[in-house]
Amino acid sequence: MLGPLVAAIDQGTSSTRFLVFNSKTAELLSHHQVEIKQSFPKEGWVEEDPKEILQSVYECMERTCEKLTQLNIDISNIKAIGVTNQRETTLVWDKETGEPLYNAIVWLDLRTQSTVERLINKTPGRNKNHLKHKTGLPISTYFSAVKLRWLMDNVDEVHEAVVSHRAMFGTVDSWLIWCLTGGKSGGVHCTDVTNASRTMLFNIHTMDWDPELCKYFGIPMEILPRVRSSSEIYGLMKSGALSGIPISGCLGDQSAALVGQMCFQDGQAKNTYGTGCFLLRNTGPKPVMSDHGLLTTVAYKLGRDKPACYALEGSVAIAGAVVRWLQDNLGIIGSSEELEKLAASVGTSYGCYFVPAFSGLYAPYWEPSARGIICGLTQFTNKSHLAFAALEAVCFQTREILDAMNQDSGIPLTQLQVDGGMTSNRLLMQLQADILCIPVVKPSMPETTALGAAMAAGAAEGVSVWSLNPEDLSEVTSEKFEPQINPEESEFRYARWKKAVQKSMNWET
Ligand code: G3P
Repeated sequence: MLGPLVAAIDQGTSSTRFLVFNSKTAELLSHHQVEIKQSFPKEGWVEEDPKEILQSVYECMERTCEKLTQLNIDISNIKAIGVTNQRETTLVWDKETGEPLYNAIVWLDLRTQSTVERLINKTPGRNKNHLKHKTGLPISTYFSAVKLRWLMDNVDEVHEAVVSHRAMFGTVDSWLIWCLTGGKSGGVHCTDVTNASRTMLFNIHTMDWDPELCKYFGIPMEILPRVRSSSEIYGLMKSGALSGIPISGCLGDQSAALVGQMCFQDGQAKNTYGTGCFLLRNTGPKPVMSDHGLLTTVAYKLGRDKPACYALEGSVAIAGAVVRWLQDNLGIIGSSEELEKLAASVGTSYGCYFVPAFSGLYAPYWEPSARGIICGLTQFTNKSHLAFAALEAVCFQTREILDAMNQDSGIPLTQLQVDGGMTSNRLLMQLQADILCIPVVKPSMPETTALGAAMAAGAAEGVSVWSLNPEDLSEVTSEKFEPQINPEESEFRYARWKKAVQKSMNWET
């Protein structure tokens, strides 16, 4: 039965997608995907072109509409559009010309490492958690405030635009919503609470920009977008085949996946394998501070008058990115599918451990000076073992954040809900269950990030087309991977991994 349709723009680190769902059944009707180029102008720097990102959104929308028309589905049935996005990635543009003033500095970027070290050195007791009571975050290269500071200090165009009141700052959601709702001719400059909570300028208790934090980083508040809930009408599409349709959902991609996986209860969790890997556990209406290196973040606020929900998050910088590295930098695979075949051909790393700390280490260590290492090599080691070690690295990193999560909450997770591109790798999923020693459950509809944003858009006040009963989704089929190795074997490999991590953090000494 075809009900009203809801759509989502899913702008990730590696690609952009536009997806259209049936709001009655959550069935994915059509989608289109475009890869995004990343540039690495200097060691540790990661940038993307804001105009290419915007163009990719238009292209995905157009192609998806064409595909729907070919399926005899009337695109006028699309009632709402949600935006979900790579978080923290930082942009500044000129509101008068509509032009970006620099490339987007991607969340993985390490150029602010020395600034971060300087800031930490200035805090009492050299405490990286100095701002955590307000932000839920450690001072790290990961978050937007330090990237924005770098732009203001190092890019003349940004500095001049700030001084002459023409600058607008935003994460990718803000850039897209501003452009799609009209840009320099009246575009809406906003973000949602989930994206705002990743900037280090947002107070997760007052749920607003924090003047003290802005002063700490020297950021003028007038350049910040207005903070809105994750589900309300922000504005209407200004051009293209979907002109006039409300954009009414906005969530950072990890929050959207939590919503799409229906983790609405305190204690429910999901792990998403994208460019990075992010395990979020819903902690209900009160922020819970971690003692084990996790972030406290806003999970969602589904309506202006609805309460905010919080989550504990374990963030891993490099997951799918290691596959791209093996492909683009080493050339040992031609595609991500080849990685699974290569690793499966040996079924072991033969004692080789690969810590892909390309952007330092995130949770639970928050060590920007860590660097990638491969250890345990012998003359016997070949590219298949390396491929296996890369997949195991993703699983070990997840184990570390799951352990931290269990210690923080005191209630161990008995199974792990997963989603994201890498979950199509069945070897990875089996390895993950083996290394966690608990079952791993993957929904048959893997587009949970986009579904979450589409749900938020459809449920917005003034739109309200979302007619799916959440209970219906429990009927949605899923696949379960049970642990197949004994826990002693798992512990042995994990202990070796931990040693390798120590080496990656002390590689210079
Ligand atoms: O915090 C960064 C995260 O939002 C990126 O997600 O899916 O592009 O790895 P993804």
